[in-house]
Amino acid sequence: MLRNFTKQVQRTIAHSGWRGYTINNKIVLGIETSCDDTGIAIMDESGRIISETLITHSQLVADWGGVHPHEISKAHKKTLDGAIEETINKSNLQTSDIDAIAVTNGPGLMSCLRTGVEAAQQLSQRTNIPLISVHHLEAHLLIARGLSKESSNLQFPFLVLLASGGHCVIVEANGIGDYKFIGGTLDDSIGEAFDKIARLLNLDVSVNSGGHEIERIVKLHDGDPKQFKFPIPMMGPKRSEISFSFSGLKSSALWQVRKLENSTINNKELNLLVMNQKNKSQNPKLNLSTKVVADLAASFQSTAIAHLVDKTDIALKKCKQNRNIKDLVVCGGVAANMLLRDEMQTLCNKHNFNLHLPPIKYCTDNGVMVAWAGLEKLKSGLATSDVTLKPRWPLFEYTINTSQDA
Ligand code: KG4
Ligand code: ZN
Repeated sequence: MLRNFTKQVQRTIAHSGWRGYTINNKIVLGIETSCDDTGIAIMDESGRIISETLITHSQLVADWGGVHPHEISKAHKKTLDGAIEETINKSNLQTSDIDAIAVTNGPGLMSCLRTGVEAAQQLSQRTNIPLISVHHLEAHLLIARGLSKESSNLQFPFLVLLASGGHCVIVEANGIGDYKFIGGTLDDSIGEAFDKIARLLNLDVSVNSGGHEIERIVKLHDGDPKQFKFPIPMMGPKRSEISFSFSGLKSSALWQVRKLENSTINNKELNLLVMNQKNKSQNPKLNLSTKVVADLAASFQSTAIAHLVDKTDIALKKCKQNRNIKDLVVCGGVAANMLLRDEMQTLCNKHNFNLHLPPIKYCTDNGVMVAWAGLEKLKSGLATSDVTLKPRWPLFEYTINTSQDA
C-alpha cells in the first residue's frame, strides 16, 4: 500500500485532449457525499482539475424542509456510480492512471458518508487503487492552498474561519492533520441559520441553498440592512470570548417576521405565536412585500456576518500577539457570500493579514476539495487508508496516525 502511495508517477497520456501531455505528478479521484451534494473530481498535484461532476440535491432538501438523511443517501446511491463513471470518462484517463481514491469518511451524516465510502471501497477493490481517508473540514480548508488566488503563497501555520452548513469554527492550522481549536459555535452553525431564515422568508430553495437565495434576494431587490435592527450576538459580557451563537438572531428574525405579519397583536400574543412556530419546518405563506422580505434578508445577513467579523477580529488580534501568523483562510459554504468575502478583506487589511478565499464555486461541498486533500496527504506522506465512518469528528481531535500503512 505504502509503495503505491509513494511511487513517483511518470507517464505520457495518449488520449484525446491529453495527447502528448506529460504528467509528472500524482492523480487522485475524490468522492464527497457527507451531506446533500454528490461530488466527484479528478485532480493532479499541480492543482489542475482534470474533470469533475457535481450533483446537488436541493430539490429534495426543499421538499423535506431540510436535509433528510435517508432520502439524501438514497439520492447519493442512485447517482454515485454514474457520476464516478462520467468523471473518469470526461478525464480521458484510464483507471490505471489514478494513484489514489480519496473519500470523505467524516464528519457528516452517517448514511450519506456510508454511500460514498462503500462506492470508494468497491472501486478500490475492482481497480486495486488505494484509498485515502479525508476529513471533510480539512478538505474545505486545504482547498485554499490548491485553488485560491494566492494559493502558492499559503504555508502553514495559518488561521482558518470555517463557516458552513454544519460548522462554524476558528482553528489554527499548523500542518496537515494538525489543528488547534480557537473557537466554535455554542448552538447552531451560521449556514443552518441562513437556511432556516430563507425558509422562514419563503424563498425558493429548490435549486440553490438558503444562503445563496438570501444573498440573491438582497442584491436583486436592493435589501436595506439598516431597515431592521437585529442585535449582533454576544456583544455583552461574552464580547471577548471567541465563540459564536446564532439561535438568538434566528429568534429575533422570526419574531420580527411575525410582528410584521400581525401588526395589530401585542407583544405577549406575539411571543406565544413565535414559540408555537419555532419548531415548524414549513412556513405558512408570507404576507409581506418582496421589498420587506429583501430588507429582512439584508438585515439578517449583515448581522450574522458582523458577528463572524467581530469574533474573527478578536482571533486575529490574539494571533498577532502570540504567534507570527499572517494568513487567514475563510472557507466552507458561507464563504461563497460576497458580503462576507468583502468584510473579511477589510478586516485582513486592518490587521495586515493575507486573506485566502477558495473560488466561490469550491466553497460549498464538492469533489475537487476531497481530491486535493488526498493529494496533499499523499505528497506529505500522511495518507491513511482507514476509512472508518466518523459522523462526529471534530477537526482539532483529528490527528493522523500513519502507522497502519507502514
Ligand atoms: O460547506 P457546505 O456546502 O456544506 C456543509 O459542509 O455544511 O455549506 C453549505 C451552507 C448552507 O448552509 C448554505 O446555505 C450556505 O453554505 N451557503 C451560503 C451561500 N452559499 C451557500 N451562505 C451564505 N451566502 C451564500 N452565498
Ligand atoms: Zn462542507
